[in-house]
Amino acid sequence: MASTMISLASATPSASLSVQETLKGKTRLGSGSVSTLFNKEKGNPSNKKKSFGRISMTVAVNVSRFEGIAMAPPDPILGVSEAFRADIDVKKLNLGVGAYRTEELQPYVLDVVKKAENLMLERGENKEYLPIEGLAAFNKVTAELLFGADNPVIEQQRVATVQGLSGTGSLRLAAALIERYFPGAQVLISSPTWGNHKNIFNDARVPWSEYRYYDPKTVGLDFEGMISDIKAAPEGSFVLLHGCAHNPTGIDPTPEQWEKIADVIQEKNHIPFFDVAYQGFASGSLDADASSVRLFAARGMELLVAQSYSKNLGLYAERIGAINVVCSSADAAARVKSQLKRIARPMYSNPSVHGARIVANVVGDPALFNEWKAEMEMMAGRIKNVRQKLFDSLSAKDKSGKDWSFILKQIGMFSFTGLNKAQSDNMTNKWHVYMTKDGRISLAGLSLAKCEYLADAIIDSYHNVS
Ligand SMILES: Cc1ncc(COP(=O)(O)O)c(C=O)c1O
Repeated sequence: MASTMISLASATPSASLSVQETLKGKTRLGSGSVSTLFNKEKGNPSNKKKSFGRISMTVAVNVSRFEGIAMAPPDPILGVSEAFRADIDVKKLNLGVGAYRTEELQPYVLDVVKKAENLMLERGENKEYLPIEGLAAFNKVTAELLFGADNPVIEQQRVATVQGLSGTGSLRLAAALIERYFPGAQVLISSPTWGNHKNIFNDARVPWSEYRYYDPKTVGLDFEGMISDIKAAPEGSFVLLHGCAHNPTGIDPTPEQWEKIADVIQEKNHIPFFDVAYQGFASGSLDADASSVRLFAARGMELLVAQSYSKNLGLYAERIGAINVVCSSADAAARVKSQLKRIARPMYSNPSVHGARIVANVVGDPALFNEWKAEMEMMAGRIKNVRQKLFDSLSAKDKSGKDWSFILKQIGMFSFTGLNKAQSDNMTNKWHVYMTKDGRISLAGLSLAKCEYLADAIIDSYHNVS
């Protein structure tokens, strides 16, 4: 704890006592810097008249200036990993955070990433500051990857793209833009959603409300609820949509449902705001996973899209992503981009270069790009395999007749098990399976070898805990 040092020079004994008394036992004697000087003229006001000559003592006060700050609760997602690390049981399984693991449950660095990094070393690239908007080569390829290089929005220069600090930082930039230029406008977010969305909009002081998304009865999409909540929202709201692989449910609208969602958003003059954190990771195809965004862009709508390369290129710690704002004219896009830069400058000045160069090298090089697609298919394929095996194990072991097929209908890294908080606690406390308390498990952290154990844990928690 930091301590405040008070030195008493030329002070009366009673003056020093009164200082100690005032601090109610939170003092100790020590030596340190002089912060207050007591003497005949400038003494403790209550003892101004008396002086007993010069004595000197120093008081260190163990009262932190941060005393009023309460302990923050652990993060509901990243806190799960902390608890996992502290568990010494050999059976423990971390299905909390959405990070890809190999079948041996080890972190995985993509081969194309290693190749791109070698290229960067060979070229001896420097570490100069990037411009505020990020690496030009990255911004170009990231927008092309999202919309398709031949998309009119790109050809007509209608997209304002700014490199962000991964998906989170890009969402945060967009939230700041909304707060500044759309005062009072609310963001509609799905119920449930990725835990950090609410924090992001709260911190940016953007009001939000929820639209229905998950139907616990079917463990599927509450499409009617979603449509009617989007319809009921005040005109001109921002509608946050997960481009693919909805987190936490793993439930995505069908192409027909996406069309209807776009209809309602257009009717109500809302602004779609896509969060694309899993492009290529949901289906294994980069194009298929961008189809929702492209559908909206093809209708000529203005929209926002936050992108992340944490999952699909495994660049979690590089913090690389982008915010794209599709505008109705190139002129509007240029102005929006200038304002995004203005928001970024006092927040973090300019983004980091390493991840941006990796993405630019991989996406911009046809050979590496093809290798990346193959690796992504491999990762998405491994997750599909454990999804299937988990379903098979649950179906074989659970004799109650419960239908577990919703697990196969879900897509991406996660499965929403439908387990409630008490059941999720049982998974952790009894079975050492670490997961978020909303019943979400990350299949990316599961191996084929652990599927049967996980099935036992789920069946026990589902049937024996209310
Ligand atoms: C829906 C969603 N959006 C955004 C992110 C942002 O991740 P990152 O900041 O690592 O790119 C995540 C990560 O889990 C996510 O699931």
